[in-house]
Amino acid sequence: MSTLTLHAASSPKAPSIPKAPPTGVVRFAQRLQRALGSLARRMSPPPFALLDLVMSRWVGDALAAITELGVPDRLAAGPRDCEALASELGLHAPSLYRVLRALARSGLLVEGPSRSFALTETTRALCTDHPHSMRNMVLEVLRPRNTEVWSRLPESLRTGASAWGKVHDVDLWTWLEQHPEEHGIFHGAMVELTREAAPAYAWALDYPSFGTVCDLGGGEGQLLATILAAHPTARGVLVDAPRVLEGAPAVLARYGVRERCELVPGDVFSSAPKGHGLYLAKNILHGLSDELGLRALRAWREAMPPGGALAVIDVVVPATEGPYLQWLDLQMLLASHGGRERTRDEFAGLFASAGLRLERVIETPTPLDLLLARRAD
Ligand SMILES: C[S@@+](CC[C@H](N)C(=O)[O-])C[C@H]1O[C@@H](n2cnc3c(N)ncnc32)[C@H](O)[C@@H]1O
Repeated sequence: MSTLTLHAASSPKAPSIPKAPPTGVVRFAQRLQRALGSLARRMSPPPFALLDLVMSRWVGDALAAITELGVPDRLAAGPRDCEALASELGLHAPSLYRVLRALARSGLLVEGPSRSFALTETTRALCTDHPHSMRNMVLEVLRPRNTEVWSRLPESLRTGASAWGKVHDVDLWTWLEQHPEEHGIFHGAMVELTREAAPAYAWALDYPSFGTVCDLGGGEGQLLATILAAHPTARGVLVDAPRVLEGAPAVLARYGVRERCELVPGDVFSSAPKGHGLYLAKNILHGLSDELGLRALRAWREAMPPGGALAVIDVVVPATEGPYLQWLDLQMLLASHGGRERTRDEFAGLFASAGLRLERVIETPTPLDLLLARRAD
């Protein structure tokens, strides 16, 4: 693996990393929310409850469409009338009105006088400059590359095979490299998702006590940037494909940590830079079959010094009832390299086969937990 020497100035106003709310409180609130949702469903006649559920997919389609066309950014400063919006954006005003009206009746926009519309607190996060923007994530879920794969769910249920290869000639990572706009949306979406959850992981461990933290498949560095900002004496190494690392200096500079992070292009499915105290792998193993996951884990173990540790951040499927991202598991069924979300025991078994021992699982207030493992010898 060679080292990239990309430099960017540190931001003078690096954000401080907030403490995450207590896991128990967040999980209780989620349970309550689910119970209220299921109560509301039970109070509707079953056919309408079902219709509501399946048609909610169109809400996502409508949100993705107006986001792609730039409508939320034009509403960021305040209400606008539909005719003016349509003419600025080159859209068909009567059709735009129908979409905006539908979103307003779903509580996602506010309709004012003379066909004017404003954003709500929720839809403000569709704007590009919003500090908690989910713009790329909203686009990501509904990209044709994704919806085409989801339309093959019945086929995957018959064969157990990923649908991605039936629709695309090359794997997701190669495909994204070949499609720059989609590459930007996917990695932008990863930054957005990780930005919201990373404070919980940044405070879950005493990172400086491990020595250097090496994030395997760390994307554009959002998790590592948050950890380094929370721990001013920590140093990091970020590993991903060269094209992905091009986005990292800007993310690291935003947190004022560029100088404490080395960028190393490499293939983390079969190797890792040697000798770091703690390796991180967030949302990597869930995209790999047991066979590929084991191959990666063995390579990471090889790279670890004696006593070295690995922190896997992924969904941990509860043995019985409990909150977990079940839909992400289906995304893995359809579009990954034979991956799936795993239970604690399944992780422990995989680690053991690779010569690693699961030490503890740290629950977090996010849908993902942190599994800390050590070299077994
Ligand atoms: C689901 S994303 C997770 C990114 C990041 N860890 C996070 O959670 O925000 C998977 C990451 O693995 C990277 N990746 C995929 N295959 C890789 C490979 N063979 N070597 C290095 N990185 C790879 C992708 O570029 C992507 O950044």
